[in-house]
Amino acid sequence: MIALRQLSKIFRTPTQNITAVDTMDLTIQEGEIFGVIGYSGAGKSTLIRLLNMLEKPTSGQVSVGDKNMSELSGRELRKARQEISMIFQHFNLLWSRTVKQNIAFPLEIAGVPREERNQRVNELIELVGLSGRGEAYPSQLSGGQKQRVGIARALANNPSVLLCDEATSALDPKTTDAILDLLTSINKQLGITIVLITHEMHVIRKICHRVAVMEEGRIVEQGQVLDVFRNPKEEMTKEFVKQITEPEETMEAIEELLKDSKEAPVVKLMFVGEDAEQPVMTELIRTCGVSVNILQGKLSKTQHGSYGTLFVQLQGEPENVEAALRFLEDHRVEAEVLKDDK
Ligand SMILES: Nc1ncnc2c1ncn2[C@@H]1O[C@H](COP(=O)(O)OP(=O)(O)OP(=O)(O)O)[C@@H](O)[C@H]1O
Ligand SMILES: [Mg+2]
Repeated sequence: MIALRQLSKIFRTPTQNITAVDTMDLTIQEGEIFGVIGYSGAGKSTLIRLLNMLEKPTSGQVSVGDKNMSELSGRELRKARQEISMIFQHFNLLWSRTVKQNIAFPLEIAGVPREERNQRVNELIELVGLSGRGEAYPSQLSGGQKQRVGIARALANNPSVLLCDEATSALDPKTTDAILDLLTSINKQLGITIVLITHEMHVIRKICHRVAVMEEGRIVEQGQVLDVFRNPKEEMTKEFVKQITEPEETMEAIEELLKDSKEAPVVKLMFVGEDAEQPVMTELIRTCGVSVNILQGKLSKTQHGSYGTLFVQLQGEPENVEAALRFLEDHRVEAEVLKDDK
């Protein structure tokens, strides 16, 4: 378990003091994938660097497992750090070393004998899907492959915690998904706790169990990913959730439609968990006597079930449309009738 108690980090510069992390309390359970999302400057990187003491807290406590990180120094701290490794946005590989030598690096530092080291490197190469590329240099690899090297290197000393600082931000969407799949399988296979920070809700949606939303050094909202998606409370959280549910182009198209569709209401439906299924819609059409004109829709999987939004236009007699809205409510599908507010 990772526990932060009243943790603060203030950067003192000649011109001002910047509170990057502000009296934060947070608990992350063993074995979970915990995401922190926030805009640039929210303090995410500072927070993650406080977890392994790359930044020293100004005040407050960080404990990882049974160790109070803020009290350790020298050899003890170096040992504790082997338990908490990290991957980075720009990979931070050693360019003059091969894939194998990069992965072996932390093992060399830990004093692992050569034979054991080679064996471990081979295992790791296999684990991250880089078989056959061991002798390549980083410059010969794609971005996704470079991050795989970063992951293998981070796992070399069998850490219990893996910290990811925008680990997929430099990658295209498809490669991002592949790396996120790899992280998910590492979490499942090895039971490693993963803390990741990102500014993309897609990343949170795809692999996190829980999420915290960070703004100006504080956590403004946290919870299980599906709960937060279903019922975001803070304005900032709503904005992030919209990255997934209401892509800009969709909303523009819907607004156009609202302008000249006075008669048939446009409804935004939210499906969560078990209900994110087609049968509900089929039954609605069958039992309520309305026809459903599907405008836009997207269903995404999270670690705790599916989540989706569907924009539809309900066509029929007013009482049938009413019945349809009630039907949706009874089936725990949230329905919001959209209005043209211009
Ligand atoms: N070493 C430093 N010295 C002074 N100020 C710093 C230092 N590191 C970070 N800051 C400041 O602390 C605040 C939080 O920075 P941080 O890098 O943690 O944000 P972030 O959420 O990771 O942003 P991004 O998404 O851009 O990476 C910013 O105002 C930043 O300028
Ligand atoms: Mg950052």
